[in-house]
Amino acid sequence: MKKYLVIGNPISHSMSPELHNYWLKENKILGVYERQKLKINELEKLVLKIKNKKVIGANVTVPFKKKIIPYLDKLTPEAQNTQSVNTIFLDNDRLIGHNTDISGFEKAIKDTKYNLAKKKILILGAGGVVSSIIFALHKMKVFSVTLSNRTKTKAENLKSFFNNTIVNRNKITVIDWGEIPNFDMVINATSVGLKNNDKLNLDFSKIEKENFFYDVIYNPEETNFLKSGKKFGCKIENGKKMFIYQAAEAFKIWHGIYPKINHKVIGLLNK
Ligand code: ATR
Repeated sequence: MKKYLVIGNPISHSMSPELHNYWLKENKILGVYERQKLKINELEKLVLKIKNKKVIGANVTVPFKKKIIPYLDKLTPEAQNTQSVNTIFLDNDRLIGHNTDISGFEKAIKDTKYNLAKKKILILGAGGVVSSIIFALHKMKVFSVTLSNRTKTKAENLKSFFNNTIVNRNKITVIDWGEIPNFDMVINATSVGLKNNDKLNLDFSKIEKENFFYDVIYNPEETNFLKSGKKFGCKIENGKKMFIYQAAEAFKIWHGIYPKINHKVIGLLNK
């Protein structure tokens, strides 16, 4: 049976197997998709398994999206432009690293009907997924991106990385953690909220009504961050669609079929 994996550390929280195994069955594809917790020194062994076709494809999550890159033969432009890989596949015996987080985020935002063009975006966090979000925001022609991360140097590193790429450097500003500038949309890309009681220590009380609060976290469905957006009368959205779309795109790459996304699929993620 063909085997697919999601690798990360920790990995037990990943809902990718629920989605992929459902789609495999629905499309009558003989295969199995499993979680695998890896240590950094096990990455090489993993890529060898894909080269030897013991594993056909893999998704990559925190903390390996960048760390996996040296072991791959080639990056797609999406992975290259973000230095972030979440999907691996074999093409003519070459290991390719691709990034489906970008299109996952883009499609999720399109579904909300919120037009990002010329908007001011505030991103909280500077972890693994943020380069993909910045890249997608750039494609959607936002006006500016402001980065705020507890560890400021990580946000500054992201800014300098994009200085050298097609994203206009003047559009990225780094501010101190705790500072809340004027924005149209705020994105929580930190891990704060994964536990129900988690709270970001930020004061949004001075914001205007028509803002949009977006959380990359989808479990729990409504983090305290989204609750505070709701309290201020803002539009809110969690990361569920982004997660489903990035998975669907990976499925298409491995199996050549774009899987169905419907209420049943969305329901698979309700724990
Ligand atoms: P990684 O940083 O390994 O890529 P991640 O889950 O992708 O992991 O990112 C976690 C993000 O949540 C980081 O931006 C982290 O901030 P630091 O860079 O300062 O670690 C942020 N984060 C985690 N706990 C936080 C907290 N209690 N308050 C604010 N930000 C937090």
